[in-house]
Amino acid sequence: MRDAPLYIRTAMIRTAMHIGTATRSGLGIPRSGARFSHAASVIAAGALVILVWLAGSLAAAAQPAANQAGSGDELRPLHASSMDIAEGQHLADHFCADCHGADGISKIAGVPNLAGQRSPYLYREMRAYLSGLRGNDTMNGAITYLSVDAISNVAAYYATLDPAQPVATGEAKGDVDAVQAGKAGAAACAGCHGAAGISTMPGIPSLIGQDPKYLAAAMAAYKTGERKNDIMKGMLAPVPDANLDNIALFYALQPAARAQTPAPPGNPAAGQALATPCGACHGTEGVSGNPSSPSLAGQDAQYLAATLSDYKNGTRGNATMKALSAALDDTAIKNLAAFYAGLQPQPPNVRKPLTTAQWVERCDRCHGANGNSTDPHFPALAGQRAEYLEKVLEGYRIGTRRSPEMAAMADVLTENDVRNLAAYYARQKARAVVYVPVPPR
Ligand code: HEC
Ligand code: HEC
Ligand code: HEC
Ligand code: HEC
Repeated sequence: MRDAPLYIRTAMIRTAMHIGTATRSGLGIPRSGARFSHAASVIAAGALVILVWLAGSLAAAAQPAANQAGSGDELRPLHASSMDIAEGQHLADHFCADCHGADGISKIAGVPNLAGQRSPYLYREMRAYLSGLRGNDTMNGAITYLSVDAISNVAAYYATLDPAQPVATGEAKGDVDAVQAGKAGAAACAGCHGAAGISTMPGIPSLIGQDPKYLAAAMAAYKTGERKNDIMKGMLAPVPDANLDNIALFYALQPAARAQTPAPPGNPAAGQALATPCGACHGTEGVSGNPSSPSLAGQDAQYLAATLSDYKNGTRGNATMKALSAALDDTAIKNLAAFYAGLQPQPPNVRKPLTTAQWVERCDRCHGANGNSTDPHFPALAGQRAEYLEKVLEGYRIGTRRSPEMAAMADVLTENDVRNLAAYYARQKARAVVYVPVPPR
């Protein structure tokens, strides 16, 4: 017996168990039955967890799956005989080993390990390649000539092999909490912009209340020199591009309050009268819903006035704002600045992103503890090659690989999450599961 707690050798199941019809959601929670409790003690003795899949009857199990409708066929490789598995091995040695490795453990970047993978999942994916539902030139070509029998056998064979174990375990390097990284990056900015992004110095903008996309773009523009400001260029030069998003996110998550700078000299009521055309882009209350135009509410008045003058005289380049400020004289600029400075800023509509640990908790609901799936429909992820996981997750994220289950998870994943999750699952100890189709009593 191997030490992997999820692994059940078929020989261990000395007693045939009949537990009723397991449901797809019946993850390892077999229905009770006198004979089961015997088996359960066998299992418990090895501290094992098992998912027992019941096919209803031996006869049904032995029937060619092609005759079975719908979900029955998905589980077909679970009913493979030892002869079927031997045939599967023969096929694998001849047609798959060059890429997937002699033992189902790939040595080629982008080619997944198949050893120990859940057989109904492998079967389903091969059918998806065959039908073109899952597009991949290499795999579509590699299995074109295989029959459904052959696919089932080869899936059953790979599932019997020992899964790949991670090359490295423990925390992955580079698994960063975006907000913490942003906070660390923002420490250098506190002297001017305030520790939580609320300015106390006239002429220096608050950074709260802005969509992180606007802030990140503004920072990138200083770095490239597209937006000219020597102080900011110097400040941002040492900040890696990858951290700009994190810093922007940190500020976006801070509570919004008006800049703590002296009361502006302008006339807010007169400013309000001039602000009507501005509302279309900056929001009637100075809170923009659009990441390309900044919010103005609660911003430092001196900064607002200086910026409007900069647009007017072309120091800050922006065609839209240049045209809009052209007709504004100094009084109008001061009044507009006073009006916006007095408005209440609002936090942008962003949520704190999930940490890798929080994501993993969600993923594991389907993919099993640390990616050791116990549901035959869901692939195991533990010990899979990191770059393969990254590739397919990115595929789900951008929609080139589709799955209803994964779609819900994937569209909110960031590139950063994809990298972190791939690194996480590649580092988990992989455990095989044998699903035991059980004949009736
Ligand atoms: C020429 C190289 C090559 C050969 C030969 C090949 N494969 Fe693949 N296989 C790949 C690549 C590359 C992928 C990843 C494709 C993708 O991203 O969709 C893959 C993916 C798969 C998957 C999907 C695994 C998963 O985790 O989703 C299965 C199943 C599979 N192959 C089975 C087989 C079987 C069985 C054979 C032999 C009959 C075979 N492959 C032959 C290269 C190959
Ligand atoms: C020495 C003072 C100083 C420090 C330190 C400083 N800034 Fe600035 N920052 C300014 C000034 C002044 C401006 C206005 C420049 C302009 O007119 O374009 C500004 C503008 C900005 C803007 C544009 C805001 C907007 O509404 O368009 C962003 C974003 C910004 N800073 C981010 C940062 C970050 C991030 C750091 C730390 C890495 C930082 N700043 C450090 C002085 C500073
Ligand atoms: C058609 C849309 C549009 C309208 C209308 C508009 N703006 Fe803007 N405004 C923008 C965009 C886009 C930017 C960001 C430009 C950049 O990146 O420099 C901006 C930037 C600004 C800024 C700089 C804020 C900062 O944090 O650096 C101020 C101040 C401003 N606008 C004031 C106004 C005022 C006052 C009016 C009305 C007179 C107005 N805008 C009308 C689109 C608009
Ligand atoms: C609701 C159940 C469910 C959840 C939650 C879920 N998955 Fe999946 N996952 C699936 C199914 C089903 C598949 C197979 C889909 C297919 O055929 O493309 C899959 C496939 C995958 C694959 C492809 C495996 C391979 O070998 O090609 C990866 C990687 C993956 N999921 C990662 C994740 C991650 C990371 C999360 C959490 C962010 C997650 N999944 C959450 C059900 C789920």
